[in-house]
Amino acid sequence: MRKQIAAANWKMNCTYKQAESLLDDILNTQVELKNHQLVIFAVPYPFLIMANSEVADEDNYFVAAQNCYHQKSGAYTGEVSAEMLQSIGLHHCLVGHSERREHFNENNATLSQKVNMCLESELTPIFCCGESLSIREAGTQNDYVEVQLRESLFHLSEVDIQRVIIAYEPIWAIGTGKTATTAQTQEMHAHLRLVLEKKYGSLIANNISILYGGSVKASNAAELFSCPDVDGGLVGGASLIAADFISIIKSLK
Ligand code: PGA
Repeated sequence: MRKQIAAANWKMNCTYKQAESLLDDILNTQVELKNHQLVIFAVPYPFLIMANSEVADEDNYFVAAQNCYHQKSGAYTGEVSAEMLQSIGLHHCLVGHSERREHFNENNATLSQKVNMCLESELTPIFCCGESLSIREAGTQNDYVEVQLRESLFHLSEVDIQRVIIAYEPIWAIGTGKTATTAQTQEMHAHLRLVLEKKYGSLIANNISILYGGSVKASNAAELFSCPDVDGGLVGGASLIAADFISIIKSLK
């Protein structure tokens, strides 16, 4: 079975103490995960080492960075490389979240380099894609996300594409309380899988986890995750409330 994943995206929230107690509240509940289920906490850089040591004894719980730089190393003041993340024991990194695309001008070409940096450093990229409201209203969302995949991922070999997790996050649903319907979600996820299938074949396409993100809540997670092509979620706001995120974890297939 494909990996089913509840990924928390804390964004730029929490102080160190708040981060510690949020993690404690979630981990102390000891939600038992099945072999094919993973929980990933994408936390701000200053909390990565602490968070990673908190999950160290927990099976199938991981910590991710929210970003990395697209160059290997050098004179890039303020940036963090994939190799640095790997050197502190991480296994995952978000790449191309829509907030990074919007506020930091990340484009498909730079993101393909970030994906490469991650894979070179044995990090699993959680590659985010998704369309804006105007694209959805124009009805061109399928083509739009297909280009995002093509330009950032399709240079990868058959082996490497299977090391990527994809997160579909319609921008109009992020932090807005407006969730895509299950029909819209399933339709897009099936489309993404078809795009992967056309390039890599169905065996490989069926092996890649595709998460949904955009106002996932305790109240809608089970329904969204029940879609056949939805393999869990990337969760912003609701991941900052322990009880809500626990309930989202329990909604995994
Ligand atoms: P949201 O954020 O759950 O608060 O909509 C999701 C995300 O940006 O990853």
